[in-house]
Amino acid sequence: MYTKDPAFWRAGAISATLVMLVILGFLSANSLAVITAGGGGHVPPYTVINHQISYQYDPEKDQDMPVIGGEQLLFGKRYDAAQASALIGQGKLVIQSRACIDCHTFLGNGAYYAPDLTKSWLDPAWKAQWMPMTQSKTKEEAMVKFLMHPERYPTWSREMPNLQLSQSSAEAVVAYLKWLSSINTNGFPANFNNAPQQ
Ligand code: HEC
Repeated sequence: MYTKDPAFWRAGAISATLVMLVILGFLSANSLAVITAGGGGHVPPYTVINHQISYQYDPEKDQDMPVIGGEQLLFGKRYDAAQASALIGQGKLVIQSRACIDCHTFLGNGAYYAPDLTKSWLDPAWKAQWMPMTQSKTKEEAMVKFLMHPERYPTWSREMPNLQLSQSSAEAVVAYLKWLSSINTNGFPANFNNAPQQ
């Protein structure tokens, strides 16, 4: 019933492997495009920090989705692609060097001792609590002040330690967090509440 010719089975194995290699190559290229900043997928380009970012409920997806709006400059500056990339890269290095993930979570990586930072830029607490507390005119100013002196502006039972961030390190972290909040994370973290607290 079955052919005993080894050449038949060898040809079958080789062609199946080749077809799977082509599919793997396509899926890898596709995944890389989707996760690359500005690749046209889930991650906007770094220059998104020049824009307003909001979070709106999408009934079709049953998820909150980041919405990129018109121009809203960060620290009153307009960053070109190279400057935005350098600033966000610096923010990432600051976050890695201080091991913020020992307490916080970014894009699903890290700990839950402290708030998830994936959507921290969109946290209503910046406007409602930290802007008045730090007497800041903008959200980014309040974030820098909090990051440089978290022990002065506590809002929670657990306090964040002062990690001795310089002004420029804190600004870079804020740029990183703004860009991070623009990423379409399919509604993650699910318990992030953008609505005003009742
Ligand atoms: C030892 C644990 C710990 C480490 C390390 C830590 N944090 Fe925090 N962080 C906290 C806690 C606790 C809070 C909540 C403080 C509060 O609300 O008063 C917090 C709050 C924050 C917030 C406000 C979040 C929000 O939306 O409510 C930001 C932003 C933040 N941290 C950034 C950082 C960054 C950036 C680093 C690394 C440079 C870092 N944290 C390292 C414990 C930590």
